[in-house]
Amino acid sequence: MENKIIERFSKLNKAEKINWLVREYGDSSKEMEKILTQYWNQEEDLQKLHEEFSENTISNFYMPFGIAPNFLINGEIYAIPMVIEESSVVAAAAKSAKFWLDKGGFKTSIVGVSKSGHVHFIFKGDKDKLNSWFSEYLRDELFAKTGDITKNMRSRGGGILTIELVDKTSELENYYQIQATFDTRDSMGANFINSCLEQFAQVLKTEIQRNELFSREEKDSLQVIMSILSNYTPECLVCAEVSCKIEDLRDESGISPEEFAWKFRQAVQIAEIEPYRATTHNKGIMNGVDSVVVATGNDFRAVEACVHTYASRTGKYKSLTHCEIENGIFRFWINLPLALGVVGGLTKLHPLVMVALQILKNPSAEKLMQIVAVAGLAQNFAALRSLITTGIQKGHMKMHLLNILNQLEATEEEKQYFINFFKDKTVSHHLVISEFHKLRNK
Ligand code: MEV
Repeated sequence: MENKIIERFSKLNKAEKINWLVREYGDSSKEMEKILTQYWNQEEDLQKLHEEFSENTISNFYMPFGIAPNFLINGEIYAIPMVIEESSVVAAAAKSAKFWLDKGGFKTSIVGVSKSGHVHFIFKGDKDKLNSWFSEYLRDELFAKTGDITKNMRSRGGGILTIELVDKTSELENYYQIQATFDTRDSMGANFINSCLEQFAQVLKTEIQRNELFSREEKDSLQVIMSILSNYTPECLVCAEVSCKIEDLRDESGISPEEFAWKFRQAVQIAEIEPYRATTHNKGIMNGVDSVVVATGNDFRAVEACVHTYASRTGKYKSLTHCEIENGIFRFWINLPLALGVVGGLTKLHPLVMVALQILKNPSAEKLMQIVAVAGLAQNFAALRSLITTGIQKGHMKMHLLNILNQLEATEEEKQYFINFFKDKTVSHHLVISEFHKLRNK
């Protein structure tokens, strides 16, 4: 059956939207409707709050909210909230936290907090005139005419840091940018930056018209293409690291500390030169990063886009983490660009985000950057530790066991039986299914 195009879907109420979906895409059993409504929150206000985060909302989508405790970061203990559906990520983070707990824990520092944005425009006129007008007049005017927008941010110690004219004409004909950098303090700052940039664009257009230096043709050639922040924030950077004596790298697999250190560094070096491996290596890091970013109501798409551009900043996609062994000391670290906020967005709206931030002791944006970087480093440590010793499947499948059993609709008793059964065996999908059928046929 052909599905129909629907007009004015957004104008339907929630029940009407669901009815239409069930009619068009469901089956007569009404199972779709049952599931969609099952996920509504019983508390009407809470349900309404979630529906208003986005558009055309018909239900809620649950994700597990887990905790990785015992992270020692700069001498302070943290329990890190993580929102992620993939089994074994939270367990891996907790295992890394425990490993580093008696070795001095994680050390972090902020390298910078500046973010940037651009007014992208076309100008078909005299370059030198544009340059001197910009530096002698327009820059000050841009600062002055955004004074109202930046007032609150300035009172919190942030605001616009620099405004520059960038000549891009060698890469694209007649293309220039107004490039500005910002300190947005505890907010991620997207709205603040975009408001400043749109105001810059207005000032640029108005002021060029009023100026006598430029000919009519030059004035009319100016076209603002767009004004938008950049999600690439290489100067909003945090560093996290762990280090210990090689002899302290003891692993339950029985591998010697020396071999562990050597294989581990080798694994990082492979990800530094081989993009196929670097992608998976960094994906593992993002398991940790994204889950804290989501738990704290931050924009994981922005973080993802930025991190991967950063990983390819040399022209080749590389590992985000690095490792060195010097004078018997093993050091493992990450530099991560992270534009995060603890005010604005969902941070004061989503009740679970507020709980997550409370668990993290209501951090500043800088503190949160450090915690998130630690989660990424810890995740990578756990993944490499497994990969160079037992292999990833042993631990991963153990955590995945419950998913397989849930798919088989195992009872609580059967689940317990299989958790015991697989205590000393490697879990595989095939083995779980065959043992499950054996048990049921007994
Ligand atoms: C799985 O989600 C992540 C890993 O593949 C990361 C890695 O290979 O480093 C285990």
